[in-house]
Amino acid sequence: MPSSSPLIDLLITHAGQLVTCASDGPKRREAMRDVGLIVDGAVAIRDGIIIDAGESAALAARYRARQTLDARGRVVMPGFVDAHTHVVYAGDRVNEFEMRIQGATYMEIMAAGGGIVSTMQAVREASVDQLVDETRKRLDAMLALGTTTVEVKTGYGLSVEAEIKLLEAIARLDQTHPATLVPTFLGAHAVPPEFKGRTDDYVDLVVKEMIPAAAAWFETSHFAREGTPFFCDVFCEAGVFDAAQSRRVLEAGRAHGMIPKLHADEFENLGGVTLAVEMGAASVDHLDVTPAEEIARLAASNTVGVVIPAVNFNLGSCHFADARALIDAGAALALATDINPGSAPCPSMPMVMAIAARYQRLLPAEALNAATLNAAYAVGLGDAVGSIQPGKRADILILDADDYRHLAYEFGANPVAAVIKAGQILRL
Ligand code: NIG
Ligand code: FE
Repeated sequence: MPSSSPLIDLLITHAGQLVTCASDGPKRREAMRDVGLIVDGAVAIRDGIIIDAGESAALAARYRARQTLDARGRVVMPGFVDAHTHVVYAGDRVNEFEMRIQGATYMEIMAAGGGIVSTMQAVREASVDQLVDETRKRLDAMLALGTTTVEVKTGYGLSVEAEIKLLEAIARLDQTHPATLVPTFLGAHAVPPEFKGRTDDYVDLVVKEMIPAAAAWFETSHFAREGTPFFCDVFCEAGVFDAAQSRRVLEAGRAHGMIPKLHADEFENLGGVTLAVEMGAASVDHLDVTPAEEIARLAASNTVGVVIPAVNFNLGSCHFADARALIDAGAALALATDINPGSAPCPSMPMVMAIAARYQRLLPAEALNAATLNAAYAVGLGDAVGSIQPGKRADILILDADDYRHLAYEFGANPVAAVIKAGQILRL
């Protein structure tokens, strides 16, 4: 090989299927069925960034590599992006799981003072260290299952002080855990007990005190220095925050530099999709009961629709978001776990793909694009992660399979054989 060939840090060779998910924007409609497959593919990596992807023979001739990793015919693909999580929390809600098995619904438990508010009590009592320790284990599990980028919401503090504590924990984890975390402020996740029956007063607190405090915190954080986006989200739901209250929060967030996101149509339709699209939200999430006219509105927008079938599965429901209709209408569809102690104690994107294939009729290719490329756009990182393309971060998985469709076809075991994060081969 000529010594003038460029020197790279890592060359991954002989991917039986190199699944690139390459695209210059989120995928829609038929493009969702194309995973950008290269047979006997290779990826060239320098300084943690992908600099080339193509056929093994071509790349081996083009580069001198300090290290070569032979994928031995297996699938090589982008790391998963989990676009919607509440992974920072304390304690668990296994007692509520039993209540639901015996017939109580998620919203009944919440209305009776359990649910999000019970996790709030545990979070208010926890130190940042405790939150970090408990969450680190979950992030380890997610990383081992292939998730390399994680959106993380606050929303279990519900006071100025406790919401900032959650942001601190998110920042600490981003700096000390291999996964990349993207922060979302979700002060309007539930009404805390001290504001029971006074939702508008709580919204005042969120708008006038929490959002300015969160924005000030963000400005001095490493996230701002590194150019990470900062989102603002609301649980827009009957009995929680209505559309007008949600709009107030998102507008205040936007005035402080936060990009809107919204929980909409998880149980009842309040027009959340229309609001999210109007606000130019990065994503609108859940979409379990979104009517056809709002699906059309979403499809005509740049807002990504995130569906979360792990919640329906966990709540024992046979009703799922109509992901098929969303794709067919032309919406940019993403998948997420929603990992949280109540509605989805699930760290696994492969499991989410398996559920989406069976109950939402997504082809494995559609589920894969939704769990990588489109999810990256949902968290404002479409230019940085989510596909194997030159210029993107080298967050890459090797699967224990020679066909990517095994990802959705098999379920229950971990299909990920190796995780490469920013060019580093991790020992998990
Ligand atoms: O996305 N719906 C609101 N938030 C979460 C649930 C959080 C919890 O139950 O603790 C969700 O489902
Ligand atoms: Fe959520």
